[in-house]
Amino acid sequence: MATRSLYRSAAAKRLFVAAPRCARLYSSGSSGSSNSNAADKETHFGFQTVKESLKASKVAEVFSSVAASYDTMNDVMSFGIHRLWKDHFVRSLDPGRKPGGQPLKILDVAGGTGDIAFRMLDNAAKVHHDFETSVIVADINGDMLREGEKRALAAGYLPSDRISFKVEDAETLNTIPSNSVDLYTISFGIRNVTRIQEALKSAHRVLKPGGVFACMEFSKVSPAPLDAIYQQYSFSVIPLMGQLVAGDRDSYQYLVESIKRFPSQQEFAQMIRDAGFLTAGRGYDELTFGVASIWKGIKPLEVKK
Ligand SMILES: C[S@@+](CC[C@H](N)C(=O)[O-])C[C@H]1O[C@@H](n2cnc3c(N)ncnc32)[C@H](O)[C@@H]1O
Repeated sequence: MATRSLYRSAAAKRLFVAAPRCARLYSSGSSGSSNSNAADKETHFGFQTVKESLKASKVAEVFSSVAASYDTMNDVMSFGIHRLWKDHFVRSLDPGRKPGGQPLKILDVAGGTGDIAFRMLDNAAKVHHDFETSVIVADINGDMLREGEKRALAAGYLPSDRISFKVEDAETLNTIPSNSVDLYTISFGIRNVTRIQEALKSAHRVLKPGGVFACMEFSKVSPAPLDAIYQQYSFSVIPLMGQLVAGDRDSYQYLVESIKRFPSQQEFAQMIRDAGFLTAGRGYDELTFGVASIWKGIKPLEVKK
């Protein structure tokens, strides 16, 4: 218990030290959370029950704590499989200028360290010879964005107009104009958002009519015997790996708990439809027995009044 509270105060200190730096480094029209006006309902933070107004800062604490080790830990925890899922996600969207069309404006929400954004730019360049399609990487956490910006510089995506990094809350997307985005992506981010339906509504607002919403997230595993093994691995091994590799057990405990709390594939597909998107078929495709899934929706050309 003593270790837990020590960790919490150390992580909180890092967060608050980092915050003014982020504000200078990243343009933002958002305070980072839209919850200050919310009636203080309760929500979940992993398996804990917390006030809605506190969840965003607790999530921020987790991602500030894991930012530097985030990419390494993803490889370790998933045995590199997250790379295959991300490749598949981007290939299935095939972003880039189509013959006779315009370059795309893409918004990668909860884009963190840029994994999806870089792949989308590569796809545009390599498949469509398109160097004008651009991606805004939007994330509530400046520490994750800073890691992304470092990687973008190292890989040569920066300096250029092809990519930019912005502090934004998925629930509000304050600085993103309505009907301005061709493709909205969110990968392993939505489960961390306090009010998921608000984030879906904002996705619908910023997309142009005909624009595509695409979300990849952890989901429910089947068949049941496989799920039992997966749960055992998640709850016994991942927090331990977090402790050994990143020196941070609590953040990885939160990550596995937040996965468990996320709605089922069918429930989330319905939430996407409730936000006004059209979905094809059941609205999602499962990867690796449902360990992750991809949901897609299209903003209809004529929005019902
Ligand atoms: C697991 S990381 C995913 C990063 C990246 N998309 C990927 O696939 O590797 C989750 C990200 O969601 C961000 N996040 C959490 N809540 C958010 C919110 N309300 N708005 C925007 N980003 C948020 C975190 O800061 C973190 O960078």
